Amino acid sequence: MAERNEPSPEVQRRRLVVASVLSVILIAGSFIALFATGAGSGGAEATGDGAPVASVAATPEPTAHRPSPEVTPTPEPVVPAFDMAARSIDDPASIWVVVDKLRPLQPAEYEPADLVPVPVAHTWEPLLRQEAADAVVAMFGAASQEAGLALASNSAYRSFGAQQNIYVGDDELTARPGFSEHQTGLAIDIGPESGVCALDVCLADTPEGQWLRDNAHRFGFIMRYPPDKQAVTGYQFEPWHFRYVGTELAAEMRTRGITTLEEFFGLPAAPVYP
Ligand code: DAL
Ligand code: ZN
Repeated sequence: MAERNEPSPEVQRRRLVVASVLSVILIAGSFIALFATGAGSGGAEATGDGAPVASVAATPEPTAHRPSPEVTPTPEPVVPAFDMAARSIDDPASIWVVVDKLRPLQPAEYEPADLVPVPVAHTWEPLLRQEAADAVVAMFGAASQEAGLALASNSAYRSFGAQQNIYVGDDELTARPGFSEHQTGLAIDIGPESGVCALDVCLADTPEGQWLRDNAHRFGFIMRYPPDKQAVTGYQFEPWHFRYVGTELAAEMRTRGITTLEEFFGLPAAPVYP
């Protein structure tokens, strides 16, 4: 029976030929597939000697390292840094001069050179330096036009002698002669033309006081003796006392939320006289 199932030599030879042909076809197919993949996807690259090798560079680079031609970076606007030293804080003729209980005017009897009458409603005829006077006129005009409010000056420039006359010894309310901002020609006490709450803390609750608090910086003024700053300025809250420092400094202080000149310029607090 075994002899009957044994293929003949001829059949065995044919089977060998078929097997060989199939092997050749399989090997050839593998090579074709390998080269075709390399050419189509970049998955193979030439080495120095020309032999193709499988590449591992198919992983994309992180996006952050690739320049993106579609996204044009928006240039940051160049905002010049505020120059803290642009003006003197010592010269009494500077609109940035800082006067407090530790920083008397020098000379003590300083008089501004460019005092002018301020053409606004008033109780005492006001004088200020020209630049501050122009700013007051603009501010009173805006209060009237924008909010229908009538403001008046209660006190502006005071000479050394005038300060001597009003100083009655209360250092929390009134500066000693030679220590008052009013002597610079840059400070003004403002209230409603009606006189309601004039030179009184209740001004803070009136429409006039609130408008001044919210808008004075637009015209270059700061509320010089703000609430809760007596330990720095040496004076109780005076919602009526505005000091001209120019629009640049007033805006910078507002932007940075700094309410006193002492804190802005890094000066010592001045609660009392030495
Ligand atoms: N009332 C302010 C402090 C002055 O007298 O100058
Ligand atoms: Zn004042």
